[in-house]
Amino acid sequence: MDAEKSIAAGLEGIVAGRSSICEVDEERSELYYYGYSIAELAEKSTFEEVAYLLLYGKLPAKAELTSFCEKLEQEMEVPDEVYDVIKLLPRRTDPMDALKIAIGVLHTVDPDSASNENDANIRKSMRLIARIPAIIANHYRYAHSESTVKPKPGLSIAANFLYMLRGSEPGGFESNVLDKSLILYAEHEFNASTFAARVIASTLSDLHSAVIAAIAALKGPLHGGANERVMEMLLEIGSTENVEPWISNALSNKTRIMGFGHRVYKKADPRSPVIKGLAKELSKKGGDDKWYEMSEKIEKIMNDEKGLHANLDFYSSSAYYLLKMPVSIYTPVFVASRVTGWVAHIMEQYNDNRLIRPRSEYIGPERKAFVPINDR
Ligand code: CMC
Repeated sequence: MDAEKSIAAGLEGIVAGRSSICEVDEERSELYYYGYSIAELAEKSTFEEVAYLLLYGKLPAKAELTSFCEKLEQEMEVPDEVYDVIKLLPRRTDPMDALKIAIGVLHTVDPDSASNENDANIRKSMRLIARIPAIIANHYRYAHSESTVKPKPGLSIAANFLYMLRGSEPGGFESNVLDKSLILYAEHEFNASTFAARVIASTLSDLHSAVIAAIAALKGPLHGGANERVMEMLLEIGSTENVEPWISNALSNKTRIMGFGHRVYKKADPRSPVIKGLAKELSKKGGDDKWYEMSEKIEKIMNDEKGLHANLDFYSSSAYYLLKMPVSIYTPVFVASRVTGWVAHIMEQYNDNRLIRPRSEYIGPERKAFVPINDR
């Protein structure tokens, strides 16, 4: 290898491929899915519309959306084999691990599993988008010795998820908040999990395998795992008065504060004001502003002291907490949304594929003669 070539740690700033799906404008702190701004999508569309946009590259006409939603509804029921396997797992199994296993089982029972054609991959993608919420909710229910709840026809993906989790239908506002958060989480260019998915797809392995790799990458606390760590931190801090001493102590110990900073957005995360507004509304409506107040105080300290901005995971945590969602499923909910972006990228990779195989610069020991074991 050319020793002069510089290595970008963490591939920072490296453009690793071309994509039509998502544009991240780090200078203006803006984000677009197929040309549509995230702020507008979150305000005016639904998660189902965004899923269609990501799968087909265009917004659906009314009839197209109706037919898309009907197809999703037909695919919502999770095959028994998935629950049979889930019930073999220890109840303490991490929900992200359970998801990887469940997606593996879905591959084995998918009628299109042998085909890597685009049409087959669209059908596989729709089954994943339709079924992942039920798997997350019912794995949680199984882990807490509660019976399985089947999805209810006629509800949106967001409303259905809350319905299955709680066993009762959520209010319209709550479903709407979750729906918007799913839109915000849906797609984000070459982030770690999407890139992992593209690497797997580039070997021409199957779509489910690429999604499993993406889930594995998302699990990490520097990526999707951050939303759960944020809430754990808020719970540990416990009160608005304790924010200042807790954060100062953490910063002086060089502890990373979860939900702050971003590899690409150095000025602001364009998704953050949207989720922050929703968290504020939820806390007003629910009469519980403790978590929002604490979060605002942490945000101010992090801005002032470190010049770091809240990312999407920061206010998602208090919003999810106010939606009474258990902390252990915050990252799986990220999967339920981001799967739409992953499958779009996986199909884009298949459609113009070249094996992703970069190089490394060797920095190990010098070359030497092999010493037989008896002479060492
Ligand atoms: N808390 C405290 N210090 C931080 C943080 C943070 N959250 N983020 C970055 N820094 C500091 C870091 O210590 C370093 O300081 P120094 O130069 O003095 O050593 C400097 O900022 C640069 O950090 P970096 O790790 O080189 O930056 P990066 O671009 O590699 O990291 C990041 C990006 C997201 C991994 C990082 O900001 C982080 O660890 N954040 C916390 C985890 C998190 O919230 N992840 C969610 C990311 S966004 C949505 C998603 O993908 O889920």
